[in-house]
Amino acid sequence: MGKRVRKAVLPVAGLGTRVLPGAKTTPKNLLNVVDRPILSYIVEEARAAGIEHIVFIVGRGQAAIEDYFDAIPEIEQALAAKGKTDILEDLRRDLPEPGQMSFIRQMAPLGLGHAVWCARHVIGDEPFAVMLPDMLMMAKRAALAQAVDAYEQKGGNVVVVEPCPPGEAHKYGIVALDGQDGRLNRMTGMVEKPAPGTEPSNLFISGRYILQPEIFEILETQERGAGGEIQLTDGMFHLMKKQDFHALEYEGTTYDCGDKIGLLRANVAFALARPDLADAARKAINALL
Ligand code: UTP
Repeated sequence: MGKRVRKAVLPVAGLGTRVLPGAKTTPKNLLNVVDRPILSYIVEEARAAGIEHIVFIVGRGQAAIEDYFDAIPEIEQALAAKGKTDILEDLRRDLPEPGQMSFIRQMAPLGLGHAVWCARHVIGDEPFAVMLPDMLMMAKRAALAQAVDAYEQKGGNVVVVEPCPPGEAHKYGIVALDGQDGRLNRMTGMVEKPAPGTEPSNLFISGRYILQPEIFEILETQERGAGGEIQLTDGMFHLMKKQDFHALEYEGTTYDCGDKIGLLRANVAFALARPDLADAARKAINALL
């Protein structure tokens, strides 16, 4: 078995045009789902998968992300003085141990492949996870932990996938498989937004990856692809010629918080899943319907 997956890259430097104006002055991954920013859930998922170091790829105007993962002594002291220890603990649970997070500027949003490449010096020569922080995954066993399990079984590279709604394959990155037997299958290819009827499967790439460091050499000279952006999918396609890739159909549900309705669905689903809020949330939703 190869090296353990210890580090995760979280690219958050995109423009977030689909959730404007909400994402104009607040980075979109700091928008709330129920009472916590989306990133709080993603970091929790990373920790549940044994990740020890998180590398954020940030853009201009996103310093609030660094602040969110820092202590805030004025508020902490006020809460402690008032004996509000539950709120204080909730506030502190997102904080990293010193040195467990890095923040790297992507000076222009040249694409997801470029964003991942920006992490190369911090990742070094070891396998690592990529988590697209727009994709909030509700799962009994954390989605990334399921990917790490698959990596420990098969080695190489792992791409988390899930079935897309019927007739919608043309909106997604779709994987091609070497036969389908259970949830973990060898990949033979992938295609970004296939023309309707030409999709090689109904499984789309849903935002969690385990990649080998050789991807960096490929991304280094990667040409711009779809949308004029340096695409991670193109880089993975090249790496697939040299290394194994497996697609894992994870157990859980994904909410695309980079999209207005996806963000709304996430708020409803996560409120209904909270023991302390479920009853009140159900009443409020029913009253609106
Ligand atoms: P998206 O294309 O879905 O996100 O990128 P976006 O550009 O932020 O959003 P829209 O489409 O304009 O609404 C997928 C992920 O990759 C990151 C984004 O932040 C998002 O988490 N990304 C994308 C970067 O970090 N840098 C880039 O250059 C592009």
